[in-house]
Amino acid sequence: TQVRVLGVPMDLGADRRGVDMGPSAIRYGGLADQLASAGIDCIDGGDIAVPRPEESDPDAGGLPSGRAKFFRETKEVCEDVATAVDATLMDGQFPLVLGGDHSIGIGTIAGAARDGEELGVIWFDAHGDFNTPETTPSGNIHGMSLAAVLGDGAFADHDWAHTPAVREENVVLVGLRDVDDGERRRLYESDVTAFTMSDIDTRGAPEVVAEALEIATDGTDGIHVSLDLDWLDPTEAPGVGTPVRGGVSYREAHIAMEYVAEYHDQLRSMEMVEVNPILDEHNRTAELGCELVASAFGKRVL
Ligand code: ARG
Ligand code: MN
Ligand code: MN
Ligand code: MN
Repeated sequence: TQVRVLGVPMDLGADRRGVDMGPSAIRYGGLADQLASAGIDCIDGGDIAVPRPEESDPDAGGLPSGRAKFFRETKEVCEDVATAVDATLMDGQFPLVLGGDHSIGIGTIAGAARDGEELGVIWFDAHGDFNTPETTPSGNIHGMSLAAVLGDGAFADHDWAHTPAVREENVVLVGLRDVDDGERRRLYESDVTAFTMSDIDTRGAPEVVAEALEIATDGTDGIHVSLDLDWLDPTEAPGVGTPVRGGVSYREAHIAMEYVAEYHDQLRSMEMVEVNPILDEHNRTAELGCELVASAFGKRVL
């Protein structure tokens, strides 16, 4: 199949400026060449328009309860992302979405989900992104996007976020190491599976990722892979919006993506988010991201 790349230069969901340059950094980092080396043909669908924070009001279009900065603008961008992802699938292509901050996952998953079908989700991340407008310490939607996908909290009153095709039972977080108190409580109460870095330390990345893939594909019609580059250790991926020590190594990240490639028949969509070239060292985080995408699409040494 042909991959269609969709850039979303989005930074309304995070405090740190610079992730809006992620799509450019990833393209510059050799995405098309890396995909070609995996034997994948790709075309570039360009970028989706995102308003600048300077020309937007973070509190416009407020919520009935809690706080979610740039709620209205994020909703609009995510609707456009969903439309583009849906159109890509309708054209028989594979949507590869480049962020931007992780709030765009709300749009990608809404576009990948299909009425009457079930979609599994694997969320590789240092963070849970499981806050709601009621629990968020920051008001940043990139820390709430997975909760929004599941229609939780104040998001439930807005049809933009809820994706009924995704069941908590088929959602898996991998690599957790920075979770806020409110979202920890919410994770406990949910049927989402969460693998922390301790799980990876004790069981090894291959076993954890294999189980994550089993859970996400169990009874579903396809899976979405959401790759937040802060999943990796900052020594490997310093150019991210919210780095956290103690992440996966270069080799662990590759083996994980190689395991994802084994499920290519079920893989429906993928996104790579939170690349911040401003904080990077000579674009090495974006370059690593391109390598990882190639591994996920089946690139092998031999
Ligand atoms: N938990 C923090 C918050 O809610 C940080 C979230 C970081 N999320 C991310 N996608 N990088 O603000
Ligand atoms: Mn994230
Ligand atoms: Mn993260
Ligand atoms: Mn709901």
